[in-house]
Formats: sequence, C-alpha cells, structure tokens
Amino acid sequence: MENSKLDIIKVNNLSFEKYIDKEDIKKNIKLLAKSINIKFEHKDPVFLAVLDGSFMFTADLLKRVNIHSTLSFVKIKSYEGTESTGNHKELIGLDKDLTGKHIIILEDIIDTGLTMKYLINELNKINPASITITSLLIKRDALKFNVEPDFALFEIQNDFVVGYGLDFDGYGRNLKHIYKVCKPEPVIS
Ligand code: IMP
Ligand code: MG
Repeated sequence: MENSKLDIIKVNNLSFEKYIDKEDIKKNIKLLAKSINIKFEHKDPVFLAVLDGSFMFTADLLKRVNIHSTLSFVKIKSYEGTESTGNHKELIGLDKDLTGKHIIILEDIIDTGLTMKYLINELNKINPASITITSLLIKRDALKFNVEPDFALFEIQNDFVVGYGLDFDGYGRNLKHIYKVCKPEPVIS
C-alpha cells in the first residue's frame, strides 16, 4: 500500500499499525445505539462505563442514545498478587442506587474475561433488574472465563491494541483509530 507508512505509528517504543478505522467504529456505534434505543425504551437504563478505557466509546455512543437514561462510572483496580493470593481486584465508585435498575455495562475490551466476570459478580450483589454486557472489542481466542457479551462491536485477533480509549502503559488513548502492535520483522542477513 502506498500510504502504508502513514498507518504505522509509535507509542512508547513499540510500533503499531492501523487496524480498525474510525469510520468503521462510528458505523458500529450507530448500529449499537439503534439497538439500545429500541431494546431499552421505557426501561430507564443506567449506562455503567468502566474507566479509563471506555471513555471515548462511552462519549460517542451516548451522543446517539435518545432514550430516558442515566450514566455512571466505575473503575476497577487490579493488584498483582503474590502467587498465593493471586490477582486481586477492587471496584471503585459503584453507586448503590443501581439496585433494581437495568444496567448496561460499557467496557473497552474483553480479553481473558476475568475483569468482566469480576464486575458482574459485584453487580449481582446489589440486585439490578438486569445486566447487559457491551464491549467495544473482544479477543475471543483469549477468553478463559465464561462471559458472553450481549453486544461486542468488533471481534479481534489475540493482538495487543491501542487507541480510541485503549492504552499502552497509559499512552495512546487519544488516537482516533484502533491500532495493533506490529509483529517484529524477520531479520534477513
Ligand atoms: P481481561 O480481564 O483479561 O478480560 O482484561 C481486560 C482489561 O485488560 C481491559 O479492560 C483492558 O484494560 C486491558 N486490556 C486487555 N487487552 C488489551 C489490549 O490489547 N490493549 C489495551 N488494554 C488491554
Ligand atoms: Mg479496561
């Protein structure tokens, strides 16, 4: 491709290539908003956006939602445990008023599914009317836990991605498109 150089970017010290164009993201968000507007009309749902990665997805989706609804944010902190304690997570900012509400989770990516499984478990403790799992991306081949999103905008390969809210060590969230890490070039001697 002639312009392929323009589609390669650097984030920190890694090279990434353009993977999902912003126009395709826009198209799928439009379709998702349409489905949600129909499915949740008169249900007064609450969108529960998982920070930080879902901020851009959330903003673009909610601009197209036209039903009576509210928005709330949570953050999930992960602590790398020792081998004996394993991976410990903490849910921050959950509004207890969500009891009895129709919750629509907005997540950036489902990788192994551990984060989503943890979140659903925590949400079930406050007895919502329903939980709908929405994820911008899903790496289906990486899935290890039994979580099935109701809506997933793109199924992607098991590659590390950045952009459109997703980060690499905190960087790259501002990118308009989604990029995947470049596989190292074979060294020819
Ligand atoms: P899981 O718990 O393995 O499903 O991982 C989910 C979390 O890991 C997401 O909420 C992201 O914050 C992060 N994550 C997983 N894969 C990627 C990626 O390719 N790029 C950026 N963040 C990722
Ligand atoms: Mg995340």
